[in-house]
Amino acid sequence: MSGFRLRCCECGREYAENPELLVCEACATLQTPGGPTRGVLEIRLDELPGEWPKARPSDTDFLAAFLPFSDPSAVAPLDVGGTPLLPAPGLREALDLPRLWVKDDTRNPSGSTKDRASLLVVAKAREYGYDTVATASTGNAAAALAAVGAAAGIRAVVFVPASAPEAKLVQLLCYGADVVRVKGSYDDAFDLCLEACDAFGWYNRNTGLNPFTIEGKKTAALEIAAAMSPEPPDVVLVPTGDGVILAGVAKGFEDLVPAGLLARMPRLVAVQPEGSAAIVTAYLEGAKSVTPVPDATSVADSLTVGTPRNAILCLQRIRESNGGAVAVSDHDILDAIPFLARHTGVFAEPAGAAALAGLRQALEKGLVERDERIVLLITGTGLKDVQAASRTVERPEAVPPELEAVAQRFGL
Ligand SMILES: Cc1ncc(COP(=O)(O)O)c(C=O)c1O
Ligand SMILES: [Zn+2]
Repeated sequence: MSGFRLRCCECGREYAENPELLVCEACATLQTPGGPTRGVLEIRLDELPGEWPKARPSDTDFLAAFLPFSDPSAVAPLDVGGTPLLPAPGLREALDLPRLWVKDDTRNPSGSTKDRASLLVVAKAREYGYDTVATASTGNAAAALAAVGAAAGIRAVVFVPASAPEAKLVQLLCYGADVVRVKGSYDDAFDLCLEACDAFGWYNRNTGLNPFTIEGKKTAALEIAAAMSPEPPDVVLVPTGDGVILAGVAKGFEDLVPAGLLARMPRLVAVQPEGSAAIVTAYLEGAKSVTPVPDATSVADSLTVGTPRNAILCLQRIRESNGGAVAVSDHDILDAIPFLARHTGVFAEPAGAAALAGLRQALEKGLVERDERIVLLITGTGLKDVQAASRTVERPEAVPPELEAVAQRFGL
C-alpha cells in the first residue's frame, strides 16, 4: 500500500491526498454548466509492485498492492472483480478471430463493471469518515454503490433518471439505497447530485468527478493483463458513455508498464451508440473535447449520455494508445446480445453487447486485424434489461404437456 498524489489530466498540476478535493482547482474555473468535467484528477501511486501478487485479483492483498487505500478493513466484504477472461472458442470460430477473449464483467456482485469503482470509493469514504455516499447514474453505478454500501454498512443516496430500466430500479430499492428518481436525463441527475453533495456534505461518487472511480475501474485491466501474461493484449474494446471505464482500463495497463508487468500498452477502442456518440465524433474530428448531444438516445441506456463527463481524459487515452472509436447502431447492439449469448454463454445488457457490435465495425474499418489478441470488455449483465433483450427473440407457442406436442414441435 503506497502513498499517492492526484494529477490533473489537463494542466498536470499535482495535489496531495485531500478528502475534499475532487477536481483540479485551477481547471475547475473553466467548468461550464453541464459540460464535461474540467480538471479530472488521476491517482499517481508512489510505488507499484514489480511482480504479480500471489493473492486472487479480488482479494484485499491484491487490491492493496495496486490501489490507494490505507485501511484494509474499510474495503467492503463483497467479491468484486476477479471476473473470468474467457477464451470463447465458439465466438472465435463464428467470427474467424483465433485470438479473441471475453472479459465477463457481468459476473460482478451487482452485475456490472461499476462495482469496481464503488468498492474503492466506499473504502475511501469510510477512511475519510463519511456516513453517506451519493451518486448520479444511468442505473449501474447506482446499483454498484447500493450493493457495496449495503455490504459496508454505509448509506447510499442515488440519483437516477425516472426512465431507468425496471430491473435496475428494483435492484437499488432492494439494496436499501435512498433512491431519487429525477424527472429528466442522466445529465440532469448528475448536476442535481453535485448540488446535493455540496449542500448536505455527502461524499460524491459521480463518475469521473470522483478520482477513485477511474482508479477503481483499472482493476479490470490488471486482471486482463495478469490472465494473458506474459503476452499483452493488442486491443481492448470498451463500451463507452462518460468515458470513465475506458480511462480506468487505460490507467490499469499504464501502471503495469513501468512496473515491468506489461510489455506494451494495448490499443483502446471506444464503442458508443450512434445516438449518443459525442466522444466518437470528437475523436474523428480530432477535437480535444466534446460537443454535447442534446437529446442523446439509445437502446443501450447505460451509454446514453449527452455530455460525457470524462471526455477530455478519455480522448487523450484513446489517442495515446493509438486506438480508435466507433459508433454502432441500436440494431447492431441488439443483434449482438443473442450472438454473444449463443456463442459464449455470456448474457449482456445492450451496453455490454455493444463491445461486440463495435468489434465487427472495427474489423470492417481496419482498426483491428484478424490475428490480433483482442479483448471484449462485457460490462453489464442482460438480466438488467430483459425488455431490450426480449426484442431480439421470438417467444415459442405454449404446448400442452403431451409428448405428441413435443414431437410435432420438432417435426419428429
Ligand atoms: C454496463 C455499462 N457499460 C458501459 C458503461 C459506460 O461507462 P462509462 O460511462 O464510464 O464510459 C456503463 C456506464 O454506466 C455501464 O453501466
Ligand atoms: Zn488542472
